Amino acid sequence: MSNDQPNTTPDLNNLVSRLQRSGYKFSSFELSCEDPCDPIDVEWNYKDMVHVSFVHSHMSREFTFIGENSYTTLDLQRVLGLDIPQSTSFYTTEDNALIAHTSLFLFIVIVEVRFESVGELLTRTTTRYSLGSKTPLIRLLSPILRFALKRNWRRFTADDRPLRQRRGLLRSKGFQFDETRPVNIRETLNISKNHVIAPKSEQQEISNHFKISEFAGKTVHIGDSDHFGLQVCFKDNQILIFPRLCPHMGSSLDQDSCDGHAIPCPWHGRKFKALCSIKTDGQSKTFIGPLHICVYDGAAIHITTLSDPAPISDSAANSGYWTEPWRPAAQNDTDADELTGIAQQID
Ligand code: FES
Ligand SMILES: [Fe+2]
Repeated sequence: MSNDQPNTTPDLNNLVSRLQRSGYKFSSFELSCEDPCDPIDVEWNYKDMVHVSFVHSHMSREFTFIGENSYTTLDLQRVLGLDIPQSTSFYTTEDNALIAHTSLFLFIVIVEVRFESVGELLTRTTTRYSLGSKTPLIRLLSPILRFALKRNWRRFTADDRPLRQRRGLLRSKGFQFDETRPVNIRETLNISKNHVIAPKSEQQEISNHFKISEFAGKTVHIGDSDHFGLQVCFKDNQILIFPRLCPHMGSSLDQDSCDGHAIPCPWHGRKFKALCSIKTDGQSKTFIGPLHICVYDGAAIHITTLSDPAPISDSAANSGYWTEPWRPAAQNDTDADELTGIAQQID
């Protein structure tokens, strides 16, 4: 390496030219994809520490250092059927560019990722791989390495793109995220913070009636996968109602079936308890949430959105209100008129 020590976050060209001065020869190639999302959704995805163990099943990663703009890891990846241990360093060079570098056998691998807006809610992510080696066999070996790296890129992006696209979809529906730009890597470790800010929406009409005998053992999704949507699990002696939108970073919480009393978020593993649990013992009861009301009449349940919910501001402080437990309705409940109306609709 040259003695004139450069800045601590050299970009790709800087890094390559420094290594070339030490006798390394480089070849490079580029891969790119476009997703309907904001550039910060891609940035967040690359800097988000916790999703790795939940979303990328083909690798295990040990983080050895996590800073605001950089981290280091020890990875075990399966490449061409082999578990390859890798030590990787990762750092940001600009708000929209990141560098990762590692070494593999005789090679140095430097990866630069850039993400840029190419339209409204459309982001292009360009990944540039530079392979460096001093061995004369570089021409012979680099096609094999390229093949493995391209395969790896396809695998990672297949796992990651649904996360970016989901956030883009929420943005297109008016959702916002409580976020700082650039994303602070260390802050992504806190998965208990809610970042999703639901739009002060026009009221959604949801009205569903379920005869319990017809839905035994089933899980039913109602509404959309947003703050109004619900999933209803019909168990032996009870009905559990869960939310469909994770307030942390916006994942869908939809499950095919619910086994326990809590459902896990697929992105970071946060667990959500039921909004309400209705014992199907024949005794009528009613539960009220911030947006919904649910009436059980002994044989069926009816779930509908409140016609006049209490106003909720669209501030970050209110993020996640749709995952708070519903309250049992009291006799003299102010929503009594609404309850009566709903009860009359039940067969
Ligand atoms: S999106 Fe992070 S826990 Fe759900
Ligand atoms: Fe990822």
